[in-house]
Amino acid sequence: MDVDNLHLLIREAISELPLEREPEGLYSPVRYTLDGGGKRLRPLLLLASAAAFGADPALFTSQAAGIEMFHNFTLLHDDVMDNADVRRGRPTVHRKWDVSTAILSGDAMLTLASQLMMKGLPAQQAVDVLTLFNATAMEIYEGQQYDMDFESRGDVSVEEYMEMIRLKTSVLLGCATKIGAIVAGASEEDAVNIYDYGVRLGLAFQLQDDWLDTFGDPVIFGKAIGGDILNEKKTWLLINALAAPDADLLRSVLSDRSLQPAEKIERVKDFYKAHNLGALCHGLIGRYADEAVRSIEAVQAIDRGWRDFFIDIARRSASRTH
Ligand code: IPE
Ligand code: IPE
Ligand code: MG
Ligand code: MG
Ligand code: MG
Repeated sequence: MDVDNLHLLIREAISELPLEREPEGLYSPVRYTLDGGGKRLRPLLLLASAAAFGADPALFTSQAAGIEMFHNFTLLHDDVMDNADVRRGRPTVHRKWDVSTAILSGDAMLTLASQLMMKGLPAQQAVDVLTLFNATAMEIYEGQQYDMDFESRGDVSVEEYMEMIRLKTSVLLGCATKIGAIVAGASEEDAVNIYDYGVRLGLAFQLQDDWLDTFGDPVIFGKAIGGDILNEKKTWLLINALAAPDADLLRSVLSDRSLQPAEKIERVKDFYKAHNLGALCHGLIGRYADEAVRSIEAVQAIDRGWRDFFIDIARRSASRTH
């Protein structure tokens, strides 16, 4: 079993979901979202973790489809909250349809995800997986609320930012790796360490997502560039820029209503570049990737080949382009 096999299992599990149903208005946005691709990182982590602890990943494709379904639900609502027009190179659901559609199809995806999460598991494992899944979901909503709250605050610290991205993004990666550990019957200590791996990878992952939102190529990234700047998202880049001695200049750009969006994005980007913030951000991503590697190296009963796969994902987090 290698990574390509896992991708195949994920693709099959998603394509076999019974989504050709009525009413069309509810299910076609669900199909549109799941057909839109994406890296499938969370189901991949889940199945790789199960395989790494010696289980057959083919037995847990419902959980893999479930975590991807949940992730996609968060994206539908996130795109409404972030007023985003493009995802995976296509119009977002609330643009292609409308906000009501994004809300309700998102709700359906959340419930479908919960159903998939427990499917086919022995009773105790189903309880353990669903308990972790529900706790993770609540943390994500908390993180998303902080993310919105921070838009209107000018005094957000790096510590607050790191906690916000831990909640909104990282815990889902930790949830994915820990579910793999649970279903494979790994020891509690190994489950904790592979969870920590997921969380640390998630911090690097979201830092890079924020970097790409400013410095990425929109065609490869699949999302519009500069949305975070226009929303005044308190990313690591913006928080550090606001701490610069000449931050008043940046504040005047951000509050200048006469600037066109594209011009505002360019001016803020120039400010980041002048302060070398992109490179500094990549230094930090590298440090979280190193921490992730340390966590996976602490896992005892792990297959060597899969451990290298986890290390490889962490090492590549600062260079991903989409
Ligand atoms: C996007 O996640 C949301 C974040 C947490 C940054 P991904 O970058 O994994 O999105 P897809 O699923 O590959 O499109
Ligand atoms: C995403 O953060 C976090 C969740 C979807 C929970 P972002 O808002 O940065 O994600 P993108 O950039 O829209 O994918
Ligand atoms: Mg968001
Ligand atoms: Mg967003
Ligand atoms: Mg983003």
